[in-house]
Amino acid sequence: MSPPPANLVSIDAGYDAASMLADVREGLARPQKTLPAKWFYDERGSELFEAICALPEYYVTRTETALMRAHVAQIAATVPRGASLIEPGSGAGSKTRLLIEKAAPAAYVAIDISRAMLERGAAQTAREFPQLRVVAIHADYTRLERLPDHALGETAPRVLYFPGSTVGNFPPQETVAFLRRVAGWLGERGSVLIGVDTKKDPAVLEAAYDDAQGVTARFNLNLLARLNAELDAGFDLAQFRHRARYDEQLGRIEMHLESRIAQRVRVAGQWIELRAGETIHTEISCKYAPAQFRALAAEGGWQCTHTWTDEREWFALYRLVPGLVG
Ligand code: TRP
Repeated sequence: MSPPPANLVSIDAGYDAASMLADVREGLARPQKTLPAKWFYDERGSELFEAICALPEYYVTRTETALMRAHVAQIAATVPRGASLIEPGSGAGSKTRLLIEKAAPAAYVAIDISRAMLERGAAQTAREFPQLRVVAIHADYTRLERLPDHALGETAPRVLYFPGSTVGNFPPQETVAFLRRVAGWLGERGSVLIGVDTKKDPAVLEAAYDDAQGVTARFNLNLLARLNAELDAGFDLAQFRHRARYDEQLGRIEMHLESRIAQRVRVAGQWIELRAGETIHTEISCKYAPAQFRALAAEGGWQCTHTWTDEREWFALYRLVPGLVG
């Protein structure tokens, strides 16, 4: 292994592994059993997610990358000189490298729950841009109240980069709460570049979350494999089926793991029961028409200055600045 690059700093921001157990217990005790999506991303899960991004059916990554390429000069021009670029859920970050190249921020701050992904991605970015200060924060950003100011520089203007329609994985009210919290992270001179998926033909949407090769199914099922390995659970993966359907009313994809049979499964010293056909809900992916997303951002305290979208309006990137306090 090569030594970490000199321009890379790693920080542990109170990430708490015990919270997985608490989340799992609480989620599986609900009438609609639920497992929070953030626990998808162990090593194997992160690998499978990378494979999803390359699938023919998964238009999201391809469309957003093309959008970035087409408008990167204009997008980069919104990033102030000397800025700290902050990316929650940074993952592999190929779109981010496009932006860093053109915007040349002073610092890049990656935050991720998956330590392996975080360290690999941050080290690669640090090597590729030796002039850039890279800060890798191992944390669950949904629970991060403040950013470690000492590591970011108190005075640099802050830009949040949140691509991949990750924001769609929260229900609208949590999105509003998250955007409010982000306002606190970034301060008055902060701004946001956020990539969000749009509404489209349900057949296109459902294929994107239920591909022919079954990669998304393996990704979804890997969550159970992770519970087996880390929480001493006894899930038989062959007894569950991947389900993805678009709810037109709510404008969102819902992913579930459906029990093929009636079964009892041990999870962290307790037994849960599943009826045949009963599901464990694992993920939502909300789709927003541009006007709808801008209204949601306004509720979260942000005003939209730019919307970039492709010809078919299959994906949109928004730039947000602090809204008027009313
Ligand atoms: N932010 C991505 C999305 O909502 C996450 C994602 C893509 C995803 N495919 C998935 C999450 C499949 C779970 C399962 O599109």
